Amino acid sequence: MSNAEDHHGTRRDFIYYATAGAGAVITGAAVWPLVNQMNPSADVLALASIRVDVADVAPGTQLTVLWQGKPVFIRRRTEAEITAAREVDVAALPDPLANNDNLTGAEPATDENRTLDEAGEWMVQMGVCTHLGCVPLGDGAGDFGGWFCPCHGSHYDTAGRIRKGPAPRNLPVPTASFVDDTTLQLG
Ligand code: FES
Repeated sequence: MSNAEDHHGTRRDFIYYATAGAGAVITGAAVWPLVNQMNPSADVLALASIRVDVADVAPGTQLTVLWQGKPVFIRRRTEAEITAAREVDVAALPDPLANNDNLTGAEPATDENRTLDEAGEWMVQMGVCTHLGCVPLGDGAGDFGGWFCPCHGSHYDTAGRIRKGPAPRNLPVPTASFVDDTTLQLG
């Protein structure tokens, strides 16, 4: 290798490293606002738990509330929705676990393990598709009469369990409870 080539190679290396270094700085600057946004601010922390009045939610309708920056679907199911959910063979589900924060985590995805009340009338879940985080459509949407995520075609049944499409998990059930007949607490 001549001196000229040698010099050229050194110069090219320098340019490469300088570019990589500049790239790292730019990446750092771009990533920071995202990381910063993920630190819960005081007003979000203040909403660690919220109470929702569900007195006006009729069977067959749902309420979407925003909690900790994410939508939560509160659905009052019809008898037909409950029956459809309870007839499902849990062993055949793509995600066989309940994915319910009120339980320990290992419970099967039976309808009973995902609903808030024993009768199965109240279904409370995060409105966040477990594939890449889109907000699914509700009110009987999709091939299984529950929720449908149009982003990449994930179908959830009337218990929010993934039945078809790329989503890997059932819709998450957050910590929730009734504090009285018509008031539900999230968190
Ligand atoms: S984000 Fe819902 S299917 Fe991809």
